[in-house]
Amino acid sequence: MAVRHFLSLLDLSAEELRHLIQRAMQMKAQQGHAHAPLRGKTLAMIFEKSSTRTRVSFEVGMQQLGGHALFLSPRDTQLGRGEPIEDSARVLSRMVDAVMIRTYEHEKVERFAAHSRVPVINGLTDLEHPCQLLADLQTWFELRGDIAGRTVVWVGDGNNMCHSYIHAAERLGFELRIACPEGYDPDPLILASAGRSAAIVRDPMEAAEGAHLIVTDVWASMGQEQEQAARRRAFGEYVVDEKLMARAAPDALFMHCLPAHREEEVSTGVLEGPQSVVWDEAENRLHAQKALLEFLLAAGETQPLSRQ
Ligand code: CP
Ligand code: NVA
Repeated sequence: MAVRHFLSLLDLSAEELRHLIQRAMQMKAQQGHAHAPLRGKTLAMIFEKSSTRTRVSFEVGMQQLGGHALFLSPRDTQLGRGEPIEDSARVLSRMVDAVMIRTYEHEKVERFAAHSRVPVINGLTDLEHPCQLLADLQTWFELRGDIAGRTVVWVGDGNNMCHSYIHAAERLGFELRIACPEGYDPDPLILASAGRSAAIVRDPMEAAEGAHLIVTDVWASMGQEQEQAARRRAFGEYVVDEKLMARAAPDALFMHCLPAHREEEVSTGVLEGPQSVVWDEAENRLHAQKALLEFLLAAGETQPLSRQ
């Protein structure tokens, strides 16, 4: 059977995605119950960029499922000394059971996956951050039920998170309004592939009108540190504050993948306020990725949802 990778949210069908979210919620509810489907299995984690949540949630998640995680930094492996991706993929995938990669170029994870015998997981690239979407969707589903037909507003940069939101809108049938300044639009091909599910609404106040979920992210992503000053000027109007939240539906939620920059893309009041669910969202990285690891590595070893 062909190896399943998770490089993009689009690697899951809508049905698989909904199933995975339900499984994540179930695993969260069953915390503490012995369930070790990954006993004896190892996940290699390659980080070419910094991380708190992704690293800790994958490492703890593997341990809770009975397996083990291995942290690999390019600084002290041959990856940082120019060993080809294809060679690293062939070698590592003969020793471990899955590989998670956080890197810059999306094409790198695709090349790695093409030469890997085991599942490869995208732990963030410049293009996409699908693991974060699993956690965001789980958070929405547990608080509000299915997201189909709802309105989600992305405020800020048309970046990796925005791209994964576009994919989520396409898969799960919600409306995504993208409020980004000119020059910072999402990738046009990704946007076009979502059809009518996603559209740019330049004015953030107009975009927020009646919305059910408001999401934002930092103005300068990892790797864009040099652009920080220019971005601060360009994104001045793209702040999620109390005024913007007041335009959304009264029970609208606020999400941010974190880390957040208070008083830049989000006001302290909104981040710490009653509509913010960012701490649940961060915790759900653990549960959602446990469901993902089980799906990729232990398919067939779990009971159907209805029988548990
Ligand atoms: N949201 C997220 O991916 O956080 P880290 O960069 O800390 O992993
Ligand atoms: N867009 C951000 C997300 C961090 C989790 C970045 O790529 O740095």
